[in-house]
Amino acid sequence: MHELERGAEVPDALGPYLAVDRSRPRHECWVTGHMVAGLDGTAAVAGRVGSLSTTPDQALFRRMRQIADIVLVGAETVRREGYGCVRLDEKARSQRRAQGRSATPPLAVVSRSLAFDWTANVFATAPADAPTHVITCAAADPERRARAAEVAEVVVAGDERVEPVVALRALADLGHRVVLCEGGPSWLGELVAADRLDELCLSISPMMGGDPLPVSVTPPGAGLAQFALEGAMLEDDTIFLRYERSHDDR
Ligand SMILES: NC(=O)c1ccc[n+]([C@@H]2O[C@H](COP(=O)([O-])OP(=O)(O)OC[C@H]3O[C@@H](n4cnc5c(N)ncnc54)[C@H](OP(=O)(O)O)[C@@H]3O)[C@@H](O)[C@H]2O)c1
Repeated sequence: MHELERGAEVPDALGPYLAVDRSRPRHECWVTGHMVAGLDGTAAVAGRVGSLSTTPDQALFRRMRQIADIVLVGAETVRREGYGCVRLDEKARSQRRAQGRSATPPLAVVSRSLAFDWTANVFATAPADAPTHVITCAAADPERRARAAEVAEVVVAGDERVEPVVALRALADLGHRVVLCEGGPSWLGELVAADRLDELCLSISPMMGGDPLPVSVTPPGAGLAQFALEGAMLEDDTIFLRYERSHDDR
């Protein structure tokens, strides 16, 4: 047991996340989850994440997308949060360009129902070099699939449902080697159950009493996945934890 002490000031909150070497993933791509939880583990308040996220967490959330080749998210989060496309500031964009990456990572939405407003900004205002991707399964409604293809890149990854392993392989084949998953809990739980979560960046917000929804909802029967703490920072009363998948249980 060790006491945590306040260490040196971190000049740039994103710095420790940018410094992580994600170039040698266990599988075809590296998957980072980025979530915020209350002290009681809640992942939402009245169906939205907004009031759970403190000012330093919101700032990090926006900037964290700089690490990603693609930002992956479950459909319910897109619907509830009114998700838009990824926007990075000019400094982040030029840093990415200098690394030979697209200026902005595209967003990829996982859905079987394809129940979306296809005129929404998340599809309509995506940059030409970072179109929104829709990851679905063969059993999805063909008319909705055709509509999706008019405004997004459609990836079919599974028959009756999107298979996480198939989806990630497809993203890797498209050149996306660092995948940032922003939830929601159901989709993140599927990645955990498939043992495809390599890193979890978890902000602990100093509040309790939200929805009975944990940050990850694993399907029944999924085993435990072990993680190792690789970093901890704090600003005001928010704690920022960074875990990587531990190899101990394999
Ligand atoms: N605390 C945080 O950091 C955080 C982050 C994100 C979201 N949230 C909160 O989490 C809540 C939403 O999360 P959620 O767990 O309900 O939903 P979610 O994971 O965002 O999305 C679930 C949806 O994704 C699609 N999906 C998931 N797995 C699939 C599979 N294997 N095959 C095909 N489609 C699949 C389905 O979409 P279709 O229904 O379209 O088929 C499913 O209904 C919101 O309240 C949001 O505010 C919190």
